[in-house]
Amino acid sequence: MQHDTGRKRILVTSALPYANGDIHLGHLLEAVQTDIFVRYNKLRGHDVIYVCADDTHGTPVELSALRQGISPEELVETARKNHIRDYSGYDISFDIFYTTNSEENRHYAELIYENLLKKDLVVEKEINQYYCENDKRFLPDRFIIGTCPRCKSEKQYGDVCEVCGVTYNPTELIEPKCGLCSKPPVLRSTKNIYVELAKRESFLREYIGKPGVLQDDMKNFVKSWIDDGLKEWCISRDGPYFGFRIPGTENKYFYVWMDAPIGYLSSTDRWCKDNGGDVMDYWEKGSPAEIVHFIGKDIVYFHALFWPVMLDSSDFAVPSSIKIHGFLNIQGEKMSKSRGTFILAKEYLEKVNHPQASEFLRFYYGSKLSLTSADLDLNKDELMSRVNTTLINNIGNLHHRAMIFCERYFENELPAVAWDKEIALQIEAAASEISAWYEASEFKLVVEKVHSLGSVGNKYFQDNKPWELMKTDKMAAASVIVTCVNLIKALAVFLKPIVPKISASVEKQLSASFGWDDYRFNLSGCKTGTVEKLVAPLESAHLDELFTAQTVAACADQKDKKERDQDGLIDISAFTAVDLRVGTVLTAKNVEKSSKLLCLSVDFGSEKRQIVAGIAQSYKGDDLIGQQVVAVFNLKPAALFGLVSEGMLLAAKDKSGVLTLVGPKATVSLGAKVA
Ligand code: MSP
Ligand code: ZN
Repeated sequence: MQHDTGRKRILVTSALPYANGDIHLGHLLEAVQTDIFVRYNKLRGHDVIYVCADDTHGTPVELSALRQGISPEELVETARKNHIRDYSGYDISFDIFYTTNSEENRHYAELIYENLLKKDLVVEKEINQYYCENDKRFLPDRFIIGTCPRCKSEKQYGDVCEVCGVTYNPTELIEPKCGLCSKPPVLRSTKNIYVELAKRESFLREYIGKPGVLQDDMKNFVKSWIDDGLKEWCISRDGPYFGFRIPGTENKYFYVWMDAPIGYLSSTDRWCKDNGGDVMDYWEKGSPAEIVHFIGKDIVYFHALFWPVMLDSSDFAVPSSIKIHGFLNIQGEKMSKSRGTFILAKEYLEKVNHPQASEFLRFYYGSKLSLTSADLDLNKDELMSRVNTTLINNIGNLHHRAMIFCERYFENELPAVAWDKEIALQIEAAASEISAWYEASEFKLVVEKVHSLGSVGNKYFQDNKPWELMKTDKMAAASVIVTCVNLIKALAVFLKPIVPKISASVEKQLSASFGWDDYRFNLSGCKTGTVEKLVAPLESAHLDELFTAQTVAACADQKDKKERDQDGLIDISAFTAVDLRVGTVLTAKNVEKSSKLLCLSVDFGSEKRQIVAGIAQSYKGDDLIGQQVVAVFNLKPAALFGLVSEGMLLAAKDKSGVLTLVGPKATVSLGAKVA
């Protein structure tokens, strides 16, 4: 909300973690990213609420409860307590952490469903669905396991492939098996309820194209799903199912992904009821409030396609921005229980034997986070070096030198002298850069800038030698100290969203509570409190219990194995995972400042793509126009010289290094698959 005061109203969310599992360091990456954004906007004085909840419904919870011999309700109650405890260990500042198993959520799920019906977006169909004759039940989603129809990854559940992110119907799985008894299921006819997404295609195209809704590296990805054709989305499951029964049916329940995002809305409602607000201040269509979702790259389909259709069809506001992060790896490997690289939030706090363990993880994540869906790695040596290089040797050092000097020579009273104007100006300029980076969720640039300002401060202290000035010009020495203390204060303001506790320690020593504007130099002629070190070094010994020799060895083994696999043979699935297609070159231009790259537009029939290829030394652009080429079609988009490349051309390289593009021997139809 943009009042005259510039004060905005912002609703911020993290994805709702499944009640079925513990919070791990991957969840925390997302929570820290969201929390930094929230704390920054609160620091700027905006009206922000941070809403999250447990995602409680569906088959995984039902299955675990079954195995533990407790009711699903009991399971989700305990989970919620544990989740709240885990997040609070890292100072995640939710305004509410609610549950999707609430009366509010039932209300909004039913309301949205009714509106979908009214808008004629719902159809019922009699379909064949898997049924296990052994367990005597229909097999929804997680109760069925098979091979992904798109990328051919094995052991995927019946609703979504965790490898390639595509959603599908259980009947599309290859070689399905019952998740309970592993027997092949049979098909039985049953009625299901579908949302006809295709009817909202033009709305969705317009929505995802709006500036700010999706980050650049995701736009084409989501667009390609629409181009592939929007399928009907099945929102019902046969009972028994832990969830909300669909009004007007006997034994059908809302699929968990129908009521999960509605949890954002119903949790906002709960917060408003408890705090005297109105849910429509956030969720009314056309409201000036911003809705910002932070999610991982695995759940984009649900947030960018299903969710906006649900909201818009009920005249609720649609998200202003969906910020998508990548996955956290540990020591270069996917988090995996069997390899010892699966680290729980509580385990990190128990095992890292350092009082500032949680701040260090926040800082480390902050120093790596930017607005991309690229994966991030948590690495023991890097964790130590980032913490020690910036927090200990740079900022902690400057803080300690300046404050101790003040204590020793000026009896904890900052002299009333002027600070260095040059340095104050540098801080002023940095503040506007840093706020722009916070707003763009480019937190790693914030940390880099703060580090470089810390270096400026240390150099200034060192060059001006206040300990020598004390003997000749006490006022000059005092000015150096006043400058350094003000600089430290500015850095504590800049870092406050990332490491709130370290900033709080500076606040305590300066008897202040910082708002954003306190980055400005304004201290002189005032008392300072007792000096305390801001941070204590992070040593290898602190981390040994967490990154056991076994974890590190397991990762090394895994790398070894990968390398061996590369030397040896692959199985067919490794090959079929690569989608090769034929396209015709429409245009080919040189790339400015690059002697190697050509930027091509290639027509694959279903779509045209931009491909940046390193072939300029073997081909002139004009020679390529009209030629058929083969491209890797399912390669993650990459940026080269500021241009997005949406695929890779195949070419043969002969001994002299000359490249020859690979193409079909006779002309084939556009988009033809190479297999
Ligand atoms: N319950 C759904 C979300 C519903 S939102 C209406 C879900 N839950 S989850 O527990 O599996 O994941 C919650 C969030 O954590 C998702 O955004 C997911 O991408 C993120 N992460 C889960 N594992 C992760 C990593 N290893 N690394 C980074 N984020 C990860 O999906
Ligand atoms: Zn797949």
